[in-house]
Amino acid sequence: MAGRREPPDSLDFFPTPPWATRALTDALEKMVEPKLNLRVAWDPAAGEGHMVGPLNEAFSYCVASDVFDYGRGYDVVDFLDPALSISLVDWIITNPPFNTAMQFALRGLAFAREGVALLVRTSWISSTGRFRDLFNPHPPTYIWQFSERCAIVKGRFDPDASTATDYCWVIWLKGERTRGGVDFRWIPPGAKQRFTRPDDAARYGVLADAPLLDGAPA
Ligand SMILES: C[S@@+](CC[C@H](N)C(=O)[O-])C[C@H]1O[C@@H](n2cnc3c(N)ncnc32)[C@H](O)[C@@H]1O
Repeated sequence: MAGRREPPDSLDFFPTPPWATRALTDALEKMVEPKLNLRVAWDPAAGEGHMVGPLNEAFSYCVASDVFDYGRGYDVVDFLDPALSISLVDWIITNPPFNTAMQFALRGLAFAREGVALLVRTSWISSTGRFRDLFNPHPPTYIWQFSERCAIVKGRFDPDASTATDYCWVIWLKGERTRGGVDFRWIPPGAKQRFTRPDDAARYGVLADAPLLDGAPA
């Protein structure tokens, strides 16, 4: 196994199982009317790219950056740096660090032209502070709740992990697509099996090497 860079605990590095991102992009493609044109996405907290890979399967292109250099060749950018100025992208999609997820949502809404999608623990949608500062002024368009468990573990993708924590996608569509209230749906059972690919464990699992630390081409 080649070297991997370990981020500080405070950065909350919890890689997303690839199937959970494919469940999002499948729903974005099939459930939203009028149809979306999935062009450029940005994962601004990309970690080792566990979301970037599946996003590149559905979008024309996915930009990737993170505040920590995981050796994947992504730009090192603090998404919460007040001085950060970027040209707009269509979508901002990530699994944000828990403690700053609301700031990620607000920055995402400022930077994204078409929409923002955040994978969060379902308990994140309750809180008086988030109601006041995020959900009331910026009601999400959709909440897509996983009906089966999506196991997210610290520092690695383990296809066999289990969890007692519930997760959902919180999605804001911008502009004319904005609706009056949130549309809550369930991602039906079977998504894990349906959206897991045979090479996911090898490609994204704990033994996957960090290409730049390996001397291999990026
Ligand atoms: C839960 S992990 C998600 C990683 C990846 N998006 C995925 O889903 O596999 C959170 C990531 O946020 C990054 N992060 C934490 N604070 C950040 C900041 N201020 N700006 C950019 N990235 C940050 C961490 O380094 C970590 O990679």
